[in-house]
Amino acid sequence: MEKLKIMNIVGARPNFMKIAPIMDEMLKRKDSLESILVHTGQHYDKAMSQTFFQELEIPEPDINLNVGSGTHAEQTARIMLAFEPLVLEKKPDWVLVVGDVNSTLACTLVCSKLGIKVCHVEAGLRSFDRAMPEEINRIVTDALADLLLTPSSDADENLLKEGVAAQKIKLVGNVMIDTLYKQLPKAKKSNILKELELKSDSFAVTTLHRPSNVDDRATLSGIIEALGTISKRLPVVFPIHPRTRERIKQFELNTILDNYPSIRLIEPLGYLDFLQLYSNSKLVLTDSGGIQEETSVLGITCITLRENTERPITVEKGTNRVIGTSKEKIEEEAMKALASYSHQEKKIPFWDGKASSRIVDAIIEYTS
Ligand code: UD1
Repeated sequence: MEKLKIMNIVGARPNFMKIAPIMDEMLKRKDSLESILVHTGQHYDKAMSQTFFQELEIPEPDINLNVGSGTHAEQTARIMLAFEPLVLEKKPDWVLVVGDVNSTLACTLVCSKLGIKVCHVEAGLRSFDRAMPEEINRIVTDALADLLLTPSSDADENLLKEGVAAQKIKLVGNVMIDTLYKQLPKAKKSNILKELELKSDSFAVTTLHRPSNVDDRATLSGIIEALGTISKRLPVVFPIHPRTRERIKQFELNTILDNYPSIRLIEPLGYLDFLQLYSNSKLVLTDSGGIQEETSVLGITCITLRENTERPITVEKGTNRVIGTSKEKIEEEAMKALASYSHQEKKIPFWDGKASSRIVDAIIEYTS
């Protein structure tokens, strides 16, 4: 019998921790599956890409499309142009895409016109905010994909409401959590706390990169001022995304940062150092999607600096509070969280470290 050929796509940082356990599971079943890994090159800095491949032991990509940065149209179009001849040459049975980045959308669009089946991992998440580029990517990807694998039951409900046929949807759980559980023991060996001279439970961590927060001067400066107020209570470690670093420079916000020496600006961290850092923190303030999930599982309080979340289960069952971006509100909620501090791991159905096995089972089941 011919082996089932699956082409897996990654592009940007949040894709890497999702693809790692899937590649691992496919390699375990290499007698019946052939897996190919394509990196679009959407993220290319060592700190945003290569470090994750090394730490998460992801095999070298078979192909790198090296598309780099650009406007949304440029980036999406470049990925499509480079990906079409590749997928025509390799003729996979399935193309597997993860998450909601431009690479997810671009490869799905190409395959749907060529009649190549697409499996979307992390399907069905909705913020209901079309000003977010990721929301557009999620809606279009889910409208076109052949198999929609969801992390939680709210995602199933969203898809059903949009008219997706029930037989195309399967709840498999959260594949990021497979990586989290696998890497926790290794992360504990990281020296990051020592390097930053921090003690467990005595600092906050923040990450920011959403265009709606960092591309607007007033919003970004308000958030930084709020972090400054919080930093008077406890150090705030801020591993900075390249996009955010550029904006701080462009908007000349360094002067605000200079007033708050306890905001500790550092380079983006690798997976293991970052995991060790936030899992030992007292509070996380973020606009990331994945961090809302990871902090929930580990029981670390997460304050989400956005007006909405596509991951409501982290509010219902986890540790997440979605509070918007006003300076006063951030300060108020952070102080409340610090006053009522507790550290309690949360159980969310199917976030059990075994999603990758269910993902590969689902693809096999839907092939026949
Ligand atoms: C992308 C994803 C977002 C994800 C985020 C995680 C989309 C629409 N957005 O946003 O969902 O949460 O990744 O990081 O796909 N840059 C570098 N080096 C890099 C990559 C980017 O310096 O390796 C700089 C470039 O100046 C670039 C900017 O960061 O213009 C933004 O990168 P881009 O890939 O466009 O979007 P992200 O903001 O990273």
